Amino acid sequence: MNTINTNLDDEIMCSCSGTTRGEIQSLFKEGLDIDAISRRTGALSGCAGCEWDIAQFLKALADATE
Ligand code: FES
Repeated sequence: MNTINTNLDDEIMCSCSGTTRGEIQSLFKEGLDIDAISRRTGALSGCAGCEWDIAQFLKALADATE
């Protein structure tokens, strides 16, 4: 039986580097900005197609922690 993974933490946000939403969130909590997250994970260093999604996600996280 196929089960659909509904855990958003496992959702790949950057398919070039395989970086998940959960990884980005935990690096955000460590205080890394988008450039540091990119250097750490390789996200945004391929096609950059994920840039908007990741920027929006980080913005939402920042807004939520204000
Ligand atoms: S999907 Fe992130 S760099 Fe290509």
